[in-house]
Amino acid sequence: MADTQRKIPAHVAIIMDGNGRWAKKRGLPRTMGHAQGAKVVEQILEDADHMGIRYLTVYAFSTENWTRPGTEVKALMNLLRTYMKTSLAKCAKNNVRIRVIGDKSRLDPDLQDSIRTLEEATKNNTGIGFQIAINYGSRDEITRAVRKIAQKTAAGELRPEDITEETISDALDTAGIPDPDLLIRTCGEERLSNFLMWQLSYSEMYFTDTAWPDFTKEELEKAVDAYNHRERRFGGLTQ
Ligand code: IPE
Ligand code: IPE
Ligand code: MG
Repeated sequence: MADTQRKIPAHVAIIMDGNGRWAKKRGLPRTMGHAQGAKVVEQILEDADHMGIRYLTVYAFSTENWTRPGTEVKALMNLLRTYMKTSLAKCAKNNVRIRVIGDKSRLDPDLQDSIRTLEEATKNNTGIGFQIAINYGSRDEITRAVRKIAQKTAAGELRPEDITEETISDALDTAGIPDPDLLIRTCGEERLSNFLMWQLSYSEMYFTDTAWPDFTKEELEKAVDAYNHRERRFGGLTQ
């Protein structure tokens, strides 16, 4: 499709799946798949930015991923640790604004510190908004939001009848960020796995068999092209 006519989704969310299978196919340990996957995230963030995507949200670690073997969890946390440190200079240069979504309180204190530093250092950047979901689960996020709202009503700051959809959106970790227009999941799985269930209510879904470590700019372009062939109706009628 010609670039001039093409609609670029403002917000793209990605369930980066298949790191383990990618490694296994090559006779490598799963953690090598995660390391390669981490490199791909950095490249795709740059590509998304160049394409004019305003927000990119990636699923890095779910609330369910703690059930994996300790060594794998540790390797994933170490990759995130490295990412938080190395991306500080890069995000400043590329004008990226970072927000980590998920329950950060279960993360190691040093990781929480580097997340805070990175969020703080990039909060006034005006380029692409990059959300990283760590210890994220949609049910957990909604539960925490309900708790926040309940505390306000209990304190007499909010009347139950004044609770709107907006009240709920604003209590989620993604407050202030528009809902994703397009969700991509890699490596053949077609499920949400507890990702952004509130926010994805009306998003277009795109599934590819490509494993995350093999994902490229061309794959992202393909997903955007597919998005351009969808008719978004939002419950109404077209024509
Ligand atoms: C996605 O790859 C990364 C995380 C869930 C952290 P997987 O590790 O799920 O890879 P597969 O699905 O086992 O191949
Ligand atoms: C979802 O992938 C979580 C992330 C990509 C971080 P999983 O590989 O953990 O999901 P399931 O287990 O296939 O549902
Ligand atoms: Mg998986």
